[in-house]
Amino acid sequence: MKKLNNWDHNTWLSSRKYILSFHKFLKKDINFNKEIKILDIGCGRGKMISFLSKKYKLDHYPIGLDIVNHKVQNNRIKFINGDAIKYLKSSKNKFDLVIFKQSIHFFNQKQIRFMINNIKKKLNNNGKIIVCTLNSENISIPTFKLFESKLKISLKKDKIIIFLLKKILKNYKIKIFKFKVKINQITYIKMLKKRFISCLLKLSKKEILSGIKEIKRSHKKKNYF
Ligand SMILES: C[S@@+](CC[C@H](N)C(=O)[O-])C[C@H]1O[C@@H](n2cnc3c(N)ncnc32)[C@H](O)[C@@H]1O
Repeated sequence: MKKLNNWDHNTWLSSRKYILSFHKFLKKDINFNKEIKILDIGCGRGKMISFLSKKYKLDHYPIGLDIVNHKVQNNRIKFINGDAIKYLKSSKNKFDLVIFKQSIHFFNQKQIRFMINNIKKKLNNNGKIIVCTLNSENISIPTFKLFESKLKISLKKDKIIIFLLKKILKNYKIKIFKFKVKINQITYIKMLKKRFISCLLKLSKKEILSGIKEIKRSHKKKNYF
């Protein structure tokens, strides 16, 4: 796996607008209060949990777990650099909310089954697990042909994961989070070069560079996506 050091850096995913909008979405189902105990698996730089920790002045700093040792500048979270499976096997902590935000697809089915069953035992009464994945039915990002065909395969994998989650989590709800993004072509291309979105797809540097040319050709007159 390519290490995701720059996943949300300087993109809409780290913008205040995005964080606020996602928080609004979460609030509809989660009763946030000072006492809530949160675990964020594959937290990246922990932006979301830092926000929640500050907003609700949480008594227990949320735990953010990531296999990449991100430089987490923001305090009020407990960042653990490590593998989720190893952590879950050894930890006795209980939680009210466990989040997988764009991270579940890094694990295979056996690992997902283990994690969810393990987390179920670690949930306090009324505890919840939130899993966020791309909506495989409605993806509208500008891509190139090779990217698109590989993305289709990857989205099939996401569908299988959702099917598996539905089986393990009998009591579930599926909701769609929408966030409108307007991005100029230059910035988007920079993100592609850094393998944003395509991080799980097997694309060589050469394939990405040739794909970028394809995007420039087919969106000649479009400055914004
Ligand atoms: C696409 S990023 C999402 C980051 C963050 N949740 C967000 O939404 O901005 C996925 C994260 O999962 C982490 N990750 C992948 N495999 C992991 C593992 N086995 N244990 C812990 N974290 C992992 C990656 O390092 C990466 O930071």
